[in-house]
Amino acid sequence: MQSGFEPLAAEVKPLLLHESVELLMQVGGPAALYVDGSFGQGGHSAEILRHLAPEGRLVALDVNQKAEAARSLSDARLRFVQRSCRDLCQLFGEEEPAGVLLDLSVQLSAQEERAKGLSFQADALDGRLTPWARRADEWLKQVTAAELAWVLQEYGEQSSLLAWRLAEAILHRQAEKGSALTSADLAEVCRAVKIVDDRGLHPAKQVFQAIRVHLNEEIRELRAALCSALKSLRCKGRLVVITLRRQEASEVKRFLREHEAPDLRFAAFVTPRRLVELWPLASTDLPYACRQLCEPIRASAHEVARNPRAKVALLHVPGPWHAAEGSPAARAVQEAGADWASAAPHGVPVQDTVTSTFGSDNREAA
Ligand SMILES: C[S@@+](CC[C@H](N)C(=O)[O-])C[C@H]1O[C@@H](n2cnc3c(N)ncnc32)[C@H](O)[C@@H]1O
Repeated sequence: MQSGFEPLAAEVKPLLLHESVELLMQVGGPAALYVDGSFGQGGHSAEILRHLAPEGRLVALDVNQKAEAARSLSDARLRFVQRSCRDLCQLFGEEEPAGVLLDLSVQLSAQEERAKGLSFQADALDGRLTPWARRADEWLKQVTAAELAWVLQEYGEQSSLLAWRLAEAILHRQAEKGSALTSADLAEVCRAVKIVDDRGLHPAKQVFQAIRVHLNEEIRELRAALCSALKSLRCKGRLVVITLRRQEASEVKRFLREHEAPDLRFAAFVTPRRLVELWPLASTDLPYACRQLCEPIRASAHEVARNPRAKVALLHVPGPWHAAEGSPAARAVQEAGADWASAAPHGVPVQDTVTSTFGSDNREAA
């Protein structure tokens, strides 16, 4: 699979480096097995290796080809696997990693933005950062206004009205031109419709971001990676997740809420059915629940001064919570005397309950 995605440029620095690695290794210690689910240019991996004992091991994953960057760390304790971190629970068999780090936020240097047609000057509007993504210019030729408006609202943080105006204007420009829109075309339409951005960003900034997030399925991947990481940790290890954008942080929070064990005080005043609706984990047989171990951690003033991108970065620690058998949530409700099994509306796995009309998996169609 050719992705052509280069290692992160030197101008892109690893976020929350010391805080994330310290928390990651806090439970397992230096002699354990760790997973870096998003190797990138290896900044976090290098820091983990720095703290790892000789018998410790690190498995680093990336969907894109980073083998050379991994080799350049030249460390026998490191194994690089080119694979999505959504698959990490399939890699370890009986082995249990002590910690998983996920840092999936896209951070592109100016040069990479140009190469991917995501700068406002570049010609071809590409946007593919993962092997499964579709080209943005191809997608814009066949997308409907409703889908485009949904994408702009969902991932571009646009109001519904503005998302619709932008969608209609972009598709009008596409129909007028006939051939593929360039990134300059798209930027021009956005500028004409939005004129200014409330947050002082380039008027096209969030439109480009929304299209990229959608076509690379960034939020879907994050969600799948969280599920997979918790499964592989088997409720004992430590998961740390770095997010850079509001949608990513919201997804982590939503994941946590959906995987929390029920608060049994509610059993005193809501029906079992309602309890299951409020804590969807109780309708599944997942063998773990989650609990937010601490408030998301922000970068220090010192880091932000060195790297302004860090200002919006958050480090989440959605610690797994273990029960001996079956779903802890289900067990807890049962212990409270509630008939959760018959109360569960559909017994639908939690992962499948939050879907959107347009959020379907591109990979099936591609
Ligand atoms: C922000 S970078 C990681 C930076 C890294 N922590 C470092 O210190 O250099 C994100 C990386 O995640 C990779 N990536 C994106 N989606 C992925 C997925 N589903 N599975 C594995 N890697 C993924 C990208 O190719 C990119 O290299």
